[in-house]
Amino acid sequence: MIQSTLILLKPDAVERGLMGEVVHRIERAGLKIIGMKMVWIDKEFAAKHYSAHIKKEFYKSLEEYITSGPVLAAVIEGVSAVAVIRKMSGDTEPKKSAPGTIRGDFAVHSYEYADKNGISIKNLIHSSGTPEEAKAEIKLWFEDRELHSYKIVHEKHTR
Ligand code: CDP
Ligand code: MG
Repeated sequence: MIQSTLILLKPDAVERGLMGEVVHRIERAGLKIIGMKMVWIDKEFAAKHYSAHIKKEFYKSLEEYITSGPVLAAVIEGVSAVAVIRKMSGDTEPKKSAPGTIRGDFAVHSYEYADKNGISIKNLIHSSGTPEEAKAEIKLWFEDRELHSYKIVHEKHTR
């Protein structure tokens, strides 16, 4: 039940000054941040992170997007953290993402707009899709010594 998941605040989130907003939402939900760092990845690392998408038509633009500036990477721990963070992120296409989600509240792109302009869908956040994906992504982005074990107040109150 207690899971860990990876999030990346993509370059558009960093450039738009939305890091605090997203971190605030995660903290407010009662989830625990157990690791966090800013990283500017290169094409080689992008190919590792998005290995499932390399052969897809949109990969070139996705590569350009994710390597265009630093990202804020974090590991989030909590009850059903993978599904809860996906829910908070919202649908991949911001045009469809529900209000109240990060993508729904702060982004507007559609597939049609992105494809017409030869760019990636700018949707602010990456979050692991499944517990298996989360395990592999956390291993790729973080060393064990960068992840911390401590108690947040929500855990202290549920004894
Ligand atoms: O990020 P998420 O898991 O919601 O979606 P994905 O299907 O794993 O795709 C990864 C990322 O590629 C998306 O978040 C978009 O930024 C981008 N993408 C795109 O630009 N155009 C598509 N047709 C599909 C994905
Ligand atoms: Mg995905």
